[in-house]
Amino acid sequence: MVINVLKTDYLTNLIYNKTPGRLSSLLAAKTTLTMAENNIDWGSLSFSYMKTDFNVRCTFTNGKWGPIEVSDSEYVPLHIAASCLHYGQESFEGLKAFRGKDGKVRIFRPIENAKRFIRSAEGIGMEPMPEELFLEMVRKVVELNERFVPPYGTGASLYIRPFQIGITPLVGVKPATDYMVIMLVTPVGPYFKSGFKPCKVCMSRDHDRVAPKGTGSIKVGGNYAASLVAGERAHNLGYSVMLYLDPKEKKYIDECGAANFFAIKDNTYITPASESILPSITNMSLRQIAEDLGVKVEARPIAIEELPTFEEASACGTAAVCSPIHLIDDLDTGKSYTFGSPDEAGPVTTKLYNQLRAIQNGEVEDIHGWCEILDI
Ligand SMILES: Cc1ncc(COP(=O)(O)O)c(C=O)c1O
Repeated sequence: MVINVLKTDYLTNLIYNKTPGRLSSLLAAKTTLTMAENNIDWGSLSFSYMKTDFNVRCTFTNGKWGPIEVSDSEYVPLHIAASCLHYGQESFEGLKAFRGKDGKVRIFRPIENAKRFIRSAEGIGMEPMPEELFLEMVRKVVELNERFVPPYGTGASLYIRPFQIGITPLVGVKPATDYMVIMLVTPVGPYFKSGFKPCKVCMSRDHDRVAPKGTGSIKVGGNYAASLVAGERAHNLGYSVMLYLDPKEKKYIDECGAANFFAIKDNTYITPASESILPSITNMSLRQIAEDLGVKVEARPIAIEELPTFEEASACGTAAVCSPIHLIDDLDTGKSYTFGSPDEAGPVTTKLYNQLRAIQNGEVEDIHGWCEILDI
């Protein structure tokens, strides 16, 4: 019975996409829908999936990328032997669009995501999508779902999730020859309902997210599957995330769950240099802002022994920009490290956070040209 329901829904979605005229009438109807008609309580949104109007897709086959296709289906037709299903040929990105103070829609640094998407594809033997095609798809999916870009002042934004999968039917372990890139969007709330409040994290030498010369510096699904058990352990113990040590020596701070780590000491922004962490676009931006604000920046290995010297500590990433860290518990040694107040973020982290949010919201001049403003 359940199988029947699933099958019908799946087939219906496939047929919908193939019914001539249906999509064009939906696209035409889109223009008449407005943000106000969404009936979304923007202030209560969480960081989870909500259906929007359209997604965009592009397939690489016979050695070339095809046209950008618009779909309103939430399903993907896949061969049961598709390489993504068996050998994990999958990569993804995460970026956001914001409605600014001036009402305009801004996408934050999409070119950096396009570059990282290429590196991720190359890192697991997939065909890289050209930068310009990636950007065109990002613009298109945001434009088509404009009514889901939350209003200015709600703290919410439109999360854009591009992903690439190997779709060639394969049984032997080798790279696919055919790929599909899909971009979906969903409105998300401020990452922390409680606001920009410090959190507690833990670390343990029992878990590695990635291998020393593995795929840590690219954004591929396998890294996240490998982190789930450690993440659940941290959650079950009451911590926000697991802080990973470098996988080779377990001496240095590497990555903070699915976010980078930074600390503040003596008016210096210190962040790990490691080949097993994902180069975060938020971290890159915060480093630039730190320099702009006269804060020194150091990217270098951070030994565990240095933790007690930090005045402030924080995770950073697209989802929350900065998640200040008040406490790190070392589950193996029983040592604890604390930074600042448990109730509010430190002054430097707060300044960096506010400045980055102000750029994304169009409240201050975007002096580095990071935001792409859509002409809609
Ligand atoms: C493992 C990991 N590190 C860091 C980040 C932060 O990167 P970004 O600032 O580009 O979102 C993310 C999120 O994308 C991540 O998944």
